[in-house]
Amino acid sequence: MTQVRLENVRVAYDGREVVRDASFTVESGELAVLVGRSGSGKTSLLRAITGYAPMTGGRVVVGGTDVTGQPPAKRDIAMVFQSYALYPHMTVDENWRFPLEAAKVPKAEQDARVTRVAETLQMRRLLNRYPRELSGGQQQRVAIGRALVRQPQIFLLDEPLGALDAKLRVEARSAFKSLQRDLGTTTLYVTHDQAEAQALGSKIVVLDGGVVQQVGSPDEIYDDPANTFVAGLFGSPPMNFLPATLERDGEAVVARSGPLAVALPAVVGQKVLAAGVADQVTLGVRPETISRGAEPGPGRAVGRVYVTEPIGHNVLVDVRLGQELVRMRGHRDDDLLARLAPDDEILVAVDPARVLVFDRGSGARLG
Ligand SMILES: Nc1ncnc2c1ncn2[C@@H]1O[C@H](COP(=O)(O)OP(=O)(O)OP(=O)(O)O)[C@@H](O)[C@H]1O
Ligand SMILES: [Mg+2]
Repeated sequence: MTQVRLENVRVAYDGREVVRDASFTVESGELAVLVGRSGSGKTSLLRAITGYAPMTGGRVVVGGTDVTGQPPAKRDIAMVFQSYALYPHMTVDENWRFPLEAAKVPKAEQDARVTRVAETLQMRRLLNRYPRELSGGQQQRVAIGRALVRQPQIFLLDEPLGALDAKLRVEARSAFKSLQRDLGTTTLYVTHDQAEAQALGSKIVVLDGGVVQQVGSPDEIYDDPANTFVAGLFGSPPMNFLPATLERDGEAVVARSGPLAVALPAVVGQKVLAAGVADQVTLGVRPETISRGAEPGPGRAVGRVYVTEPIGHNVLVDVRLGQELVRMRGHRDDDLLARLAPDDEILVAVDPARVLVFDRGSGARLG
């Protein structure tokens, strides 16, 4: 059983820091996902774990042992690289045996491992093919297989499904999730795709600009984002952000954005006041938490439909609300939404319990 713990890891190339103070833990047997935009430092962080990145600070602890100074070869970690290179002159079988030969694994043991991995990845009939005779998705499976046969303690995958088309990607990710559960190998999986991160990980680590923004379960990340970056990254369509000012109304705190006034739940109002910030905030409202109101009241405002978009069993409605454009999402069979047409007037109803409040300057979550 092997846990991986990063403590204040820093990586710099030629004095330029690209990972700063990264701290998180991948529990033994866990499938954690590292998600972030291109250039956010994901590959650099994986390479710090393998020992190939120039670390300028912090510690990497594997299974309770500090491996920070250890050479890569001594760490029992297998990585599937972003641009995986299969040996073109070797068959699938030979590609898989190559690292085992290097590690002097006896022939009978090699046979057993190759057979098992071929079955797991459904590649038995392809073992004698060369990479050029395989599709992109099959080649990707060979790359994953080459890491699997080593039976490492830690499995790191850098965008392993990147080369696949959208449909195959979705199939491959459920296959991978089930495979990881069967093997129980501690795994850190890198992607820039928020939907893939949500679907796969029991833990998600969000990275931006080399800094860990939040670590949490998919639900925590979605429902309780730490800042506007995380809030905006997850969800499709993404969260609406509305500039607002705060007003006190007796005990209550009211957030006002154009024609919309939302009385914040007491707990949220207290947190926002306790933060002692300026009254300029950003409200975060997910499209599925906005509905069409029947009659005027608090948390409701009249807007005008800009455009409607049917998407499968959902419908998206963009509404002009004062200066802002707000997107709502509902079910296709909700007649109140589905029958709307551009320029219709609509009473927009925001659920106050689901409104998030962020500091407009720093983007940090206030309540
Ligand atoms: N060997 C290197 N030498 C100098 N700079 C590097 C090196 N490798 C990466 N960088 C820089 O470090 C930053 C982070 O790169 P990294 O490859 O870790 O990002 P990433 O999140 O994996 O991006 P992507 O999603 O595009 O793969 C980038 O600004 C990149 O240009
Ligand atoms: Mg990368």
